[in-house]
Amino acid sequence: MTDEDKSTNELRDLYRELILDHARNPRHFGRLDDPTHTADGINPLCGDKLKMYFRVDGSGRIVDAKFEGTGCAISVASASLLTDTTIGMRTDEAMQFFSAVVSKLSGKGDEAEPTDIGKLKALEGVKEFPARVKCATLPWHALRSALNNDDKTASTE
Ligand code: FES
Repeated sequence: MTDEDKSTNELRDLYRELILDHARNPRHFGRLDDPTHTADGINPLCGDKLKMYFRVDGSGRIVDAKFEGTGCAISVASASLLTDTTIGMRTDEAMQFFSAVVSKLSGKGDEAEPTDIGKLKALEGVKEFPARVKCATLPWHALRSALNNDDKTASTE
C-alpha cells in the first residue's frame, strides 16, 4: 500500500467516524423556540421527514438552528452537520453553501467550485450511491426552502 493509499484510507476512516458520531449524537436536535424560518424536507423514496428550524437576526445572520424528525443515519448526520455549520453564517452565505454542498455531494458540480465545504466533505462518498445522495441532501433542500420562505415541503425528488 502506498503512502497516498494509506492517507486516503485514514481520511475515509475519519470521515466514517465523523458521520457515525453525528448520526448517533446529533447536534442541535429538537424543536427551536421562536424560529424565524422553518421548512420540512421529505424523501418520498423512503418517507423520511426532517423539520428544520432557523432563527435569523435583524442583520440576516443565522443565530440558531435545530432539526427534528426521523431519518436514516446519513440524513441525520447531514442535518447535524448542517446546523453546526450554518449557525453564525449570513443567510446569503448559507445559500451559497447549499449550492456547493448539493453540487459536491451529487458529483454533478463544477470541479472548480470555490466554496470549501469543510466537514461536509465527510459525506462526499455518497456521490457513488444516488439513493444516498438524496438522504444527504434532504436537510439542505429544507434549508433552502426555509430561507426562501417557501411554504411547500422541500422534496428530494
Ligand atoms: Fe430515508 Fe435516507 S433512507 S432519508
